[in-house]
Amino acid sequence: MNFHTLAARGGRDVPSASRPLTAPIYQTNVYAFEDMETVESVWEGKISGYVYGRYGTGNHSMIEDLVAGLEGAEAAVACASGMGATTALLLGLFAAGDHLVAARDLYGTTASFLTSEGRRLGIETTFVDATDAERVLGALRPNTKAVFVEALSNPLLRLADLPVLAPLLERRGVELIVDASMASPAVCRPIEHGATVVMHSLTKFISGHGDVTGGMVLGRKEAMGRCREAMIRAGTNLGPFDAWLAVRGARPLWFLATLLLPEGTTPPELPDRIFEQIRRACAEVGATLVGGHTEITFGLKRAIINGLFNAKADADLIEIAQHERNVTLRIEIRNRLRLLGTAAAREYLEKTAEK
Ligand SMILES: Cc1ncc(COP(=O)(O)O)c(C=O)c1O
Repeated sequence: MNFHTLAARGGRDVPSASRPLTAPIYQTNVYAFEDMETVESVWEGKISGYVYGRYGTGNHSMIEDLVAGLEGAEAAVACASGMGATTALLLGLFAAGDHLVAARDLYGTTASFLTSEGRRLGIETTFVDATDAERVLGALRPNTKAVFVEALSNPLLRLADLPVLAPLLERRGVELIVDASMASPAVCRPIEHGATVVMHSLTKFISGHGDVTGGMVLGRKEAMGRCREAMIRAGTNLGPFDAWLAVRGARPLWFLATLLLPEGTTPPELPDRIFEQIRRACAEVGATLVGGHTEITFGLKRAIINGLFNAKADADLIEIAQHERNVTLRIEIRNRLRLLGTAAAREYLEKTAEK
């Protein structure tokens, strides 16, 4: 080989009988194929492979598979940022003339994206207090395509009542889109509560180390196919190194999930135990707890994630349950339940209006 060819092609292939345990970074935007038939088969999706950087690399597939597994989603599309993910979902799932109902305290840039670019694309958004399921339902129109809420809103940490909303929206054929960036799948997996689309700013808890800007949309295979096409056309693809960093960052999520559980409890036990604590706490202050077990336990998961922010976690709730008829505690419970935003919380707040 002459000098020019060696300089261009040398040092590319590394023969090895082993494979790296930690995935390599596919820092390439083009791919070499054995022949044109293979190019065609990959292009047509008959065999797996990659064709061009903007369409995805092995590192994208890894973070998509990892988070889809954690969220219980059929498919996922990695994007350049949380806003890139919102762009892909808006372009992939909506058309001019569609209506959207969104939480009033949606992350600021998401809200302004909907009211500026969204509106210019012919998508109209009505903002409501999403902790109140009746208001959400009251804002639906015949052309409402979706309801867009945050599992735990940024920065107010308010919570939409997913278990109440999901079946009602499903009956009307309305998608439930949940931005779960502030929760992370360690605490809340919205698909388990009936969400049809989940999005993440990977920038937050999933990548976790403050060194990645990334995003993701997750949901059913067909819908994610449309989001992927939109992502590819709009060019909101994640860089391979950032995808690799996001996988590395997501590994300790198992540890986060463990940290959020009281000592000696396993995830399946936790809801029952805490539900029982809350039921007793309400009985002690003379309140009747209404609402289903799922609503309460879902809300409690939200409260638990507070541990991430103020290191108090669910210990507070358990402590509350151990005290009786104490005004301070009553207020404490009020504040906690307000955070939960469930039907039970609303009922409780009404019954115990501050004296
Ligand atoms: C809840 C939420 N959604 C979306 C975003 C946007 O994510 P990104 O900054 O990765 O574009 C943010 C960013 O702070 C956020 O907090």
